[in-house]
Amino acid sequence: MKIQSISLRRYVAPLFALAVVATATLVTAREPFTKDELKAMDDKLTQSAKRGYDMWYGARADMSSNGLACANCHPDAAATNPQTFPKYMPQADRVMAYREMVNWCIENPQAGKALDVSSVDMVALESYSYYLHRGVAIQTGLQTRQTAGPEPKSARGLNVKGTGIGFDK
Ligand code: HEC
Repeated sequence: MKIQSISLRRYVAPLFALAVVATATLVTAREPFTKDELKAMDDKLTQSAKRGYDMWYGARADMSSNGLACANCHPDAAATNPQTFPKYMPQADRVMAYREMVNWCIENPQAGKALDVSSVDMVALESYSYYLHRGVAIQTGLQTRQTAGPEPKSARGLNVKGTGIGFDK
């Protein structure tokens, strides 16, 4: 009798708790995404990357007071290394996120006005650069060889031709 009550407490109670969690998970689980839904999501990303591409190659007046655009120094997102962020950046003497480095370049080499870090514009610049670095291993904090990035296959999927210059290899 005593043994039974111990095993009841030990095993049945946790099992019951597990069943409750499992049921809750089942109830909240949804059907897998359909092909159409997946395509719609992918299209949104492509739209964002395209917006980023336009900003990357065109010097927008608010982002640049000297006519320089990202592509002047980072054609095809070369040497932007999104896969290495966050990492320590000497100019700020702290660990910086990718988007902070984007703003650093807007404010310094481009002498422009920093973007709101959570704006659609910042996300678009990130989308474009990350898009071209798909499949590259994440090496957060990498300091050495920081300009040795991938060889992006130009603007894959964006229906634009790569410049063919500025590759890191
Ligand atoms: C006039 C040239 C120039 C322009 C224009 C420029 N950058 Fe840069 N960018 C640099 C230089 C130089 C560095 C290296 C700075 C350092 O490591 O301290 C750099 C570094 C970066 C990095 C960090 C790369 C790494 O691995 O540390 C990112 C991200 C970046 N730029 C994004 C951009 C974006 C986005 C734009 C456009 C909004 C832009 N840059 C415009 C010259 C430029």
